[in-house]
Amino acid sequence: MTAGLLLEPVELPPEPIVGAAALFALDPAVAHLNHGSYGAVPLPVQAEQQRLRAEQERDPDGFFGTLPARVAAARTAVARALGIDPVRLALVNNVTEAVAVALDSVSLAPGEEILVTDHSYGVVARAAERRAAECGAVLRTVRLPLELAEPPDPQSALDGFAGLVLAAVGPRTRVVILDRVTSPTARAVATGPLLSALATRGVVTMVDAAHAPGMLPLAPEVALADFWFGNLHKWAFAPRPTALLAVGPAWGERIRPLTYSWEHERGFPAAVEWRGTCDYTAWLAAPGGPALLARLGPERVREHNERLARHGQWLLVERGGLRPLPGSVGVSMRAVRLPAGVAETEEAARGLVATVRQRLGARIAVRPWAGGGVLRISAQVYNRAAEYQALATGLAGLLKG
Ligand SMILES: Cc1ncc(COP(=O)(O)O)c(C=O)c1O
Repeated sequence: MTAGLLLEPVELPPEPIVGAAALFALDPAVAHLNHGSYGAVPLPVQAEQQRLRAEQERDPDGFFGTLPARVAAARTAVARALGIDPVRLALVNNVTEAVAVALDSVSLAPGEEILVTDHSYGVVARAAERRAAECGAVLRTVRLPLELAEPPDPQSALDGFAGLVLAAVGPRTRVVILDRVTSPTARAVATGPLLSALATRGVVTMVDAAHAPGMLPLAPEVALADFWFGNLHKWAFAPRPTALLAVGPAWGERIRPLTYSWEHERGFPAAVEWRGTCDYTAWLAAPGGPALLARLGPERVREHNERLARHGQWLLVERGGLRPLPGSVGVSMRAVRLPAGVAETEEAARGLVATVRQRLGARIAVRPWAGGGVLRISAQVYNRAAEYQALATGLAGLLKG
């Protein structure tokens, strides 16, 4: 056992979800341990999108004429399946688009601040930086130490990461952007108590919930944030690109769509959803993702995935000799620290990902971090313990080399 955070041996799910792996078209020659980056679309959902595309091509005029009502119905169906209010909710392509809409809709005065954290997704932080520069505002990055563990009850506590974020809020802070689950480190930051505390300080909150739909219950964060956006194409099994943007009561009228379309006069959500003639079949097929999840049993999937991710992390520590990083309850991904000097730059991190793919036949995520990069594994219903075992043993050899 490596010094630092102590990991308990993690028991495996009593029995993997029978038949779940056969729902995917993944290459069996590869260990797909990176569901978190792009998701994987189950075969029945792919088939539904293909059926919709065929329908579109049989009579494009007829198909496009029915689209507004069908998109609204898809949005409502997805919201209901995920247990959130369909009001003030729009379908968008992805979080990259959603954060741009949100940032564009908030005016900032010179000298005001946008806060992000050093675990924020790169593009989200860059979009915030661009918006701040346009307005003469300032982007400030709150440091969240990698080794800082979560409080025992994160849904009622304001210490840990929440305490550091709150301490960073000052009189000039106008916008705070927080991850529901961070990309490089798989940690939960935007908890309900933190969002409530930020609301009482009058700051505009944006929650990057890219990983939340399908992985975690979405309440109460959706209703507590001014802007909340989550991908459906990662953990909710929807075709790419599909995401949700939820806005608080004060924002519906003030949303500025990125694209000016025929639907502009109708306001939110139609004005955000419509971008002229596009392929909207991913959105129409999206309800099939949460519906499949409901058939598999969201709780069962969640428990399976989190336990397998923790088991994978334990193997990387025990057999791979890597340092564990704290995890967050309910999250289907875990991270470990690579040795100093490994993957500390973008180029080195990309190199390690490519080497692991070539030599070990596994897909993983690695983010550069000073003092040793961060390696993230994901777990999904198609994964098996043996895949993490092979990665752990193989990595130990690779890193020695
Ligand atoms: C936390 C987080 N935010 C945003 C994104 C961007 O998602 P997309 O490329 O679908 O816009 C990702 C993608 O991995 C992510 O992990």
